[in-house]
Amino acid sequence: MSVTAAAGPAKLIVAIDGPSGAGKSTVTRRLAERLGYIHIDTGAMFRAVALAVSRLGVDPDDDAALARLCRSLDICFDSLNHLQLNGEDVSVAIRNPEISLLTSRIAAKPSVRNHLLYLQRKMGMNGGVVLEGRDIGTVVFPDADVKFYLTASPEERGRRRYEELKEKGAQVTLAQTVAEVIERDEQDLHRKVAPLSRAADAVEIDSTLLTLEDVLANMESVVKNYRMSAE
Ligand code: DC
Repeated sequence: MSVTAAAGPAKLIVAIDGPSGAGKSTVTRRLAERLGYIHIDTGAMFRAVALAVSRLGVDPDDDAALARLCRSLDICFDSLNHLQLNGEDVSVAIRNPEISLLTSRIAAKPSVRNHLLYLQRKMGMNGGVVLEGRDIGTVVFPDADVKFYLTASPEERGRRRYEELKEKGAQVTLAQTVAEVIERDEQDLHRKVAPLSRAADAVEIDSTLLTLEDVLANMESVVKNYRMSAE
């Protein structure tokens, strides 16, 4: 899938999948910065659809209505990598806990997945991208040059989410946040369409006991080895 430019190294497609709260967003952003690549947060795209569903009162179980809604939406990332929904910066609104649960529900719908699959492939097909999600290495770009599966224990992922939310002033308890992480894992792992799963050729990194720097160094060395072996 890599696209070789006339000069300079090939622009790779890097996939980072894994459950919620494993640290994917920060790791993907920082890895993309270091490689000089674009960062595509596919979860944010699912969240934008959920936000539109909630605002417009669309039935989240009506697949035909969801398909119509998707076709009417303009979803893209601006120059700050903030998600724009029909020209509005919704990067904060999509992080609301209610939207998180609704996102997990609509992410199981074929109409939503098919529409976003098309958009994600269009955004990433020229390479020079790090995409984060749940099915990037298995469904969206099964031929991605480098694939990672980033994970951590549910307790640790819940604890990280709790710290994040508390910092933002949210009224949540640790037990509640861990329970939410487990509930979302259940939905994401057991849905019929594109369940969360590790690609056979993905490099698995468990970040429970690792620092962000450790994870990034590990990933950079995998990318470097890939480049050397491809030369
Ligand atoms: O990564 P996140 O927590 O922002 O993802 C939000 C939801 O979207 C989560 O329930 C999983 C789902 N999702 C998905 O099904 N496929 C993706 N490629 C990305 C996210």
